Amino acid sequence: MCGIIGAVAESAINPVLEGLGRLEYRGYDSSGISILSNNEIQTIKAQGKLNNLKQRLSMQPLEGDCCIGHTRWATHGKANVTNAHPHQCGQVSVVHNGIIENYLQLKQQLMQWGHHFNSSTDSEVIPHLINHYLAQQMSQEEAIEQTINQLKGSYALGVLINGASKNLYAIKQGSPLVISQGNNGAYMASDAMALGPDSGKIYYPKDNELIKLNTNEIKLCSGSLNKKIHYINNKHCTKVISKGDHSSFMEKEIFEQVDLLKRLSVNNHTGEYSTIDFINLNKITIIACGTSYYAASVAKTWFEKYANILVEIDIASEYRYRSPIIIDNELVIFVSQSGETADTLAALRYAKSKQSQTLALVNVANSTIAREANFTFEIFAGPEIGVASTKAFTCQLAIFYKMAIEAAKQRAFIDDVEVKQLALNFVQLPYIMEKVLQRCTDMKKMARKLSHYSNALFLGRGSLTAIAQEGALKLKEISYIHAEAYAAGELKHGPIALLDEHMPVLVIAPKNALTDKLLSNIQEVQARNAPLLIIGDSSIREQINLQEDEFFELPEIPESILPIISVIPMQLLALYTAQMLGKNVDQPRNLAKSVTVE
Ligand code: AGP
Repeated sequence: MCGIIGAVAESAINPVLEGLGRLEYRGYDSSGISILSNNEIQTIKAQGKLNNLKQRLSMQPLEGDCCIGHTRWATHGKANVTNAHPHQCGQVSVVHNGIIENYLQLKQQLMQWGHHFNSSTDSEVIPHLINHYLAQQMSQEEAIEQTINQLKGSYALGVLINGASKNLYAIKQGSPLVISQGNNGAYMASDAMALGPDSGKIYYPKDNELIKLNTNEIKLCSGSLNKKIHYINNKHCTKVISKGDHSSFMEKEIFEQVDLLKRLSVNNHTGEYSTIDFINLNKITIIACGTSYYAASVAKTWFEKYANILVEIDIASEYRYRSPIIIDNELVIFVSQSGETADTLAALRYAKSKQSQTLALVNVANSTIAREANFTFEIFAGPEIGVASTKAFTCQLAIFYKMAIEAAKQRAFIDDVEVKQLALNFVQLPYIMEKVLQRCTDMKKMARKLSHYSNALFLGRGSLTAIAQEGALKLKEISYIHAEAYAAGELKHGPIALLDEHMPVLVIAPKNALTDKLLSNIQEVQARNAPLLIIGDSSIREQINLQEDEFFELPEIPESILPIISVIPMQLLALYTAQMLGKNVDQPRNLAKSVTVE
């Protein structure tokens, strides 16, 4: 969602622009900065890419030591310059990430008091309210606190005030925010990755803690005045993330999966997973969104098959609104690459309010979900920059797989030989994955064919239904081709009506117990002249006449690790199709890396 950065430092515009650059990976549609320059707040904004803003700034260079910046992901109002942040009212300028749910009432009230609004955003009410209270002779801190008392919803704010004293404030409620005291300045951001090298020590403010940033110090203004800020190490600050020789971060992240999986299979981390008492668990509920939800769908099949544990999965945005039944000895697992997804976080807070035991599976170690869950396991995928998740998915699956092995061991549902075989399959996994990736150019042919269509159906069976869904999501996200996925057996219950020569059907068809059933589904497709694309075992090709661009061969893969391998061709297909269509695969339109609003 929106990215925020603020700096109090010499030439503060530099760390702010660099920070906005580091936030680009999250996806955005406009950007802007406000800087205290020559005793005035100067605000410059631009629609589209950050370069547009930089160009505007090169025509109007600004100097100052107090600056805020923003990348906007439109929620209220179109993506244009007027709606871009910062929003300014008099000598108050604000950047906001989140949603102000009661902004219409507040706007009406402010209009009655004579305020005029420029934008269609919810955020613009904030500088107006602060300004209103400043005009009533409140101190800057009082005016901000009075304002946030009126806001309903979620927010992380950077507030620049040019008054008798000139200050930068930061405050949050429900949205991510991080503060850093460096050697050369003080910084705030919506994401630790946005902070530059001068930010070894960071602090995650609690909800509604008002923080004042100065070059000399960072001060907690609310609550106990003597309260000290306890900083922790910023794990992100020294890492330079580049895409190396790859055409995109997404491509790099797809190919990185072999090494990540090698590392995860050598380092068995089992100590951690054995801390869970699987024997006495009555149920596991796994909650997530998007790709992370599909990882949960696969995990369900493993826990049930190998450990005989009842597993329920739910979409995070639905969980707390459906009166879920929480039982004794239930473990609720929250899966989130970013660890900041608002829906997942809200579901976590709901589960905690019902006294559930909560476990987070995250990629970002210090994220809010990681900090708030009772226990946290990292997935060790490293920073994922491509907005479309790839390596985080396979690492989520890898951790779930290890947990399922531990659960199988503890519950002795399968015998020791089978448990050992599961572990052995996991060690082989990266090497089989490597073989699939070595044949990536074969996938370009299929991608070329798919790029000529506007719609597609993806089919799988068993745990591969979730992989078909993940493949369809990837394709939609970055190529904008409409793709829907089904369990193959569902085809004849409705989607078959869509089949004709304009609707390609992609089937994941490895060699396993369900291959014959899939062959019947494949014939149903052929009988209706729908173009057929198969990612599958060579034996399929012997039975069905397929062209080079219609078949991608999967090597022999042990059943238990099939989902982790089968997703690789799906990722490649989405990547190459999108590239052939000339799309920006790392920053697809309308998407955000970290979905921090409900
Ligand atoms: C994946 O390609 C998506 N961009 C999206 O579905 C994502 O998985 C979802 O928003 C959940 O994100 P999280 O894992 O950070 O919670």
